[in-house]
Amino acid sequence: MDLRTESAVDPHRSLHSETGGLPGEHRGRSRNPLTKIVGLAWLEFEKPDLGRAERFLSDFGFTVADRTPEALVLRGNWAGTPGLIVRRGTTSRFVGPAFAADARADLDRLARAMDVSVRPHRGGYTVALTDPSGFPVRVVHDVPELPAVPERGPLPLNVGLEPARVNGTQRPVRHPAQIQRLGHVAIGTTRFQAALDWYLDTLGMIVSDFLYFDGQRDRGPTMAFIRCDLGSVPSDHHTLAMALQTQTGYLHSAYQVTDLDEVAVAGEYLHERGYRHAWGIGRHIQGSQIFDYWRDQDRLMFEHYTDGDVFDCSMRPGWAPMSVSGLAQWGPKATAEFTGARDPGVLVAAIKALREKGNEIDVAALRGLIKVMGS
Ligand SMILES: [Fe+2]
Repeated sequence: MDLRTESAVDPHRSLHSETGGLPGEHRGRSRNPLTKIVGLAWLEFEKPDLGRAERFLSDFGFTVADRTPEALVLRGNWAGTPGLIVRRGTTSRFVGPAFAADARADLDRLARAMDVSVRPHRGGYTVALTDPSGFPVRVVHDVPELPAVPERGPLPLNVGLEPARVNGTQRPVRHPAQIQRLGHVAIGTTRFQAALDWYLDTLGMIVSDFLYFDGQRDRGPTMAFIRCDLGSVPSDHHTLAMALQTQTGYLHSAYQVTDLDEVAVAGEYLHERGYRHAWGIGRHIQGSQIFDYWRDQDRLMFEHYTDGDVFDCSMRPGWAPMSVSGLAQWGPKATAEFTGARDPGVLVAAIKALREKGNEIDVAALRGLIKVMGS
């Protein structure tokens, strides 16, 4: 199908991208997925010092839902499963995501197809899978949810002809963010194509936007913003963002807060406490979120965001060339702190990936990545 014929009312146009997919390009969805997950349940991390981890995560805006000597469970204010599980481990690292299935039958189908078992987990059930990048991926069902916690509503803004505040002032309180919920996780992988197809075929996710190396579109996409397929129910523009990189690993995870003031004031709070700012405040192009990125004490990156796009299943993927400047509509220039361009070991990782067999890193890919960093 030529997706360009569908672009007459395509909001991917303009800033977002000029065309959809071309004939023969990746469709961005599986014709017959094994199951369709309905959301991101939580992310699992390991930290050597749980007290230290709790300090950052509380300052970032999470509430502790449970704490044992071996694990920390953190939540946002909205009802649902806690968004973060941090276990004691030898190093600071992202372990993997847990996605939510709508029915026990989905777990049974996954278990049969992947030759694993459905097991009890955190009061519900899980299947434990491994994606082609090597990340452990859980799919869970029936895990008890926490009730909502009261939070402040969006600040009333004096916009338009009817002011919302007459004889009133605007005084957002400087405090840790009120995190509402986990939004998405972004990962880098040396096996992008294989991992992309796995998430679409196995978990039934669909692509909102593809990015490709400028001048190498025929290579196929090298980054994808992937959402859950909830049919006519809108879902976050991306629940998973995945990019071809010289090293497989966690890039960042993102958490929704109430509004722009919350993003800004929560950032001031983190700044006062001496945390390292990575990039922001700005507004993304793919997903449109107003974003602000921070690093924890071990340099893992966490994002506050608000006002992200939601798409239903009718939206086809947008296509655009990948560039650092193309990550935002407005805001400061993306920093090396955000892109990781100056991370020690970048060059070593590139050489290692080039030598290693079975991944998708070749000389052209390196050339593409270098061009992205400088663009
Ligand atoms: Fe993000």
